[in-house]
Order: sequence, then structure tokens, then C-alpha cells
Amino acid sequence: MDTRIQSVKSKAVQEFNQSESLEELQQLRVKYLGKKGEVTQLLRTMGQIPAEERPKVGQMVNQLKNELAVIYEEKYAELESKIQQSRLAAEAIDITLPGRKPKAGSLHPLTLVLNEIKQIFISMGYQVVEGPEIETDYYNFEALNIPKDHPARDMQDTFYISGDYLLRSQTSPVQIRVMEKQEPPVRIIAPGKVYRSDADVTHSPMFHQVEGLLIDEGITFADLKGTLQVFARAMFGPDTKTRFRPSYFPFTEPSAEVDVSCIMCRGEGCRVCSDTGWLEILGSGMVDPRVLEHVGYDPDKYTGFAFGMGIERIAMLKYGINDIRLFFNNDQRFLDQFK
Ligand code: PHE
Repeated sequence: MDTRIQSVKSKAVQEFNQSESLEELQQLRVKYLGKKGEVTQLLRTMGQIPAEERPKVGQMVNQLKNELAVIYEEKYAELESKIQQSRLAAEAIDITLPGRKPKAGSLHPLTLVLNEIKQIFISMGYQVVEGPEIETDYYNFEALNIPKDHPARDMQDTFYISGDYLLRSQTSPVQIRVMEKQEPPVRIIAPGKVYRSDADVTHSPMFHQVEGLLIDEGITFADLKGTLQVFARAMFGPDTKTRFRPSYFPFTEPSAEVDVSCIMCRGEGCRVCSDTGWLEILGSGMVDPRVLEHVGYDPDKYTGFAFGMGIERIAMLKYGINDIRLFFNNDQRFLDQFK
């Protein structure tokens, strides 16, 4: 009997230890410890051995049963943890892999140029303000001393909406809106969209302007010249020369158009400047006393200057762009060049 128990034991221990899956282990449990299992079977044959040996044999079989139960539990735990380990390994995410960078966009060339313009005037103490793109006849024309029969009001230039409303054709109405709300000193720039019924390689029905306005006591044309000189040098380089040509705007007197020395040929004469050596970049002048009166400023006490420039024009000169429509087509090949 003893040898039978020993042989069942060594066979069982070996098989339990060699089992490789939970199913196999389960089958072994049935095989040895189940109701008809081999160990249970040993107990059934107890009747065949002498009565005095039974307690000892019973004890041995029970011990075997307990030992196998322990081995089973241990093996079960071992297999279960192995399964979990391999599942974790399979599901693992390698966080050491470098991530994929999202493709970054870039600022539009008009935004780049506007940012530069803003920076230059902010450094001279100007504030950046904005006004509405849908304007009234009063702000776009009347208050700017543009009489009813002025050619700038021509239906071909201005987009009229209905009644008194129109799409502003210039940023100059922001001058009026600011002065109405504020007492001098005034020192602002006003960037934004403007609209004119005009379209070719250098004109777009929507384009951008930056207006400038400075009002204080004792402001002269020399201040206007100095300010725009500083701007031109900051924008186009320290060697840039400026030239003021007499001009006319209904809301400034005197008025001047401002040229900078050609940024392509540095004044030598080339195709860009039509061999003149100069490029026109903006309109300007001393604010007309009638405009000051209109907003309730005392023209005997205050004087000032204003200027207005097209952002597209500045950007075209700065980057050598020959077609204004490139700014609005949003062709990736064009935009990618400003990264
Ligand atoms: N508003 C003018 C234009 O659009 C430019 C300008 C602004 C001229 C301010 C003088 C003073 O042409």
C-alpha cells in the first residue's frame, strides 16, 4: 500500500509540475483529487488492508491529498501570473517612442507685415485700435471733409450697401471715431480691411490698410516727416531714404505722398521702381482743421498728422511679390515660403 501511495504521489507531483495550462491543471485535479480520482480511489481500497494499518494509511493518503492540493494551488497561481505577464507584455505601450509632431502652420505674410508695423508704432507710444468694416456715409466721407460730389464717392469705387451704409473704402473713418470719444493727445494706429470696387494684379476688392493719427499741441509737419522716416527705416532697413511729394486728400492739409528709396535697387533704378529709384508707400498729411472742428477739437489749440498705408503693397515690396491675388488664394506652396 505504501508503495502504491508513493508511486501515485511521485506521478502526480511530476504531472502537476509539468502542466502548462490552466485547463491541463484542471484535468489533473480531476484525475487525482476528483470523486473518481486516483487519490480518492486509494481511500476506497482501504477496506482491503488490515484494520490496524488503516489509520496510518488513511493519514498518509490524507496528507498526500493535502500536499497535492497545495501543489495545485501554487501551480494555479504560477500559471495565472504567467498568463497575466504575457498579456501585459502584449498590450504594453512603448512610451519611449518619440511622438509624431503635429504639422505646424505659419503666419500669413500679411499678418507678419502687420505685426511688424504694429511693433514699430507701439515702440513709439501708439495704441492699436479698430473700427467697423460696415460704415456710414458720415464716417467714411462726410466727417472726413469729402463733399457729396467728390469723385471718391463714385459708385465705381465704393461698395454701397443700402441707405447710409457702405463698406468702408479706407481706414480713415477710425480717425473720427477715436477723436469723437477721446480728448487729445491722441496717438493711434488702426489696422483693418477696406473695400473698393477694383481688381487686377495690384488691386483687390478687399485689402488691408493701417491708419495712423497723432493729435497734440504743437505738432508740425516735421513730426510727421520724422515719424515716417523712423518707420521706413525700421521697416525696410537703416539705409532707406524717404521722399515727401505734395499731394491732395480732402481731410489733410497740406498732404503728401511718401516714397521710399527702391528696396530692390537701392535707388539705382530697376523694373520694380520703373527706373525712378523710388517706391510710393503711403498717403499722409496734417489733419485738416475742418476735420478737427467736426469732432469738437479746437484747431487753434491742437494740430496733428495722419497717414494711411496699404499692407498688401508693403508686403509685396518687402517680399518681392508681383501679384496681389497670391495673398488671398491660400496656395500652400505660396504660404509655406513664410515659415
Ligand atoms: N485714406 C487715404 C487713402 O485711402 C490715405 C490717407 C490716410 C491719406 C490718412 C492721408 C491721411 O488713400
